[in-house]
Amino acid sequence: MDLGAAAFPVAERSVTVLDSAPVGRRYHRLVLDAPDLSARSRPGQFFHLLCRDGAGGGPYLRRPMSIWRCGAGVPLGFLFHVKGRGTAALAGLRAGDALSVLGPLGRGFRLEPGWRRILILARGVGLATLAPLTVAAAAQGIAVEAVLSARAAADLMAEEFAGGSGAVIHPVLDEDGGSDPARVEALLRARFAAARPDAVFTCGSNRLFLLLQRLAAECGIPGQVALEQQMGCGLGMCFCCVRQIRGEGGAVVNLRVCAEGPVFDLQAAMAW
Ligand SMILES: Cc1cc2nc3c(=O)[nH]c(=O)nc-3n(C[C@H](O)[C@H](O)[C@H](O)COP(=O)(O)OP(=O)(O)OC[C@H]3O[C@@H](n4cnc5c(N)ncnc54)[C@H](O)[C@@H]3O)c2cc1C
Ligand code: FES
Repeated sequence: MDLGAAAFPVAERSVTVLDSAPVGRRYHRLVLDAPDLSARSRPGQFFHLLCRDGAGGGPYLRRPMSIWRCGAGVPLGFLFHVKGRGTAALAGLRAGDALSVLGPLGRGFRLEPGWRRILILARGVGLATLAPLTVAAAAQGIAVEAVLSARAAADLMAEEFAGGSGAVIHPVLDEDGGSDPARVEALLRARFAAARPDAVFTCGSNRLFLLLQRLAAECGIPGQVALEQQMGCGLGMCFCCVRQIRGEGGAVVNLRVCAEGPVFDLQAAMAW
């Protein structure tokens, strides 16, 4: 099943904030009243958000944000790391405020018929991008195992990730050395041997992406990766988000993350 076909027309809309709250030490969640946009959003797609603070200031360019929660009857949600001016303005929004959103945009994750088990490897806020995939997989009877990497237990956001999907989570943390690449590799090899996944998915770390790409190639497991790139238009027109991707026959091609991605085949994507 293709979870990623962009629905058209893409809407630019002013919507109302339902909930805005800090999550853990460095993250923030924003939940919006946009039932129709939520119903046609797919895991792995994103919205381009106009980040205005209370005084109407904020950066000129919109900021791309993965869909964290979506679906029929589910309020549209985003979960983000408060980094700079744009995300700080978003975090300053309160229930009842208006927010201009553009989307849903891009191509999301694909779940193939017949898959019974997937494995997700996510780091930091990459888990926000992969969270809705757990819900979509569970709805199709696909079991989800996830290796979540974070600095500390306080940053893990396991509940925000699993969203009631029943995903089995293996935390790996910087604070106890569990996120060391050699230990993550050993854990992945053990999970592949115990319950070989039909596909693997990743987002949030170049290092983990390269590790999963190598192991998946070695074991013949297909995979997908959600890439991040700074964006201008978000609509495929400005070409500021171009990344090199291995095309047919291994030739390197330049593709737009906002239009041909942000989700790409794991073996086609290239390190950054
Ligand atoms: C498709 C897509 C989905 C994303 N989904 C999420 C998400 O779900 N949650 C989340 O926290 N973040 C997500 N991001 C990253 C998010 O867009 C940036 O963190 C945000 O634009 C930073 O804006 P700012 O104004 O707060 O910070 P800025 O002041 O613009 O930047 C602060 C720092 O973040 C870096 N940065 C800015 N934009 C990006 C980017 N696009 N990718 C990587 N680094 C960037 C800058 O180089 C700088 O170091 C996503 C990015 C893309 C392309
Ligand atoms: S951001 Fe403009 S083409 Fe991708």
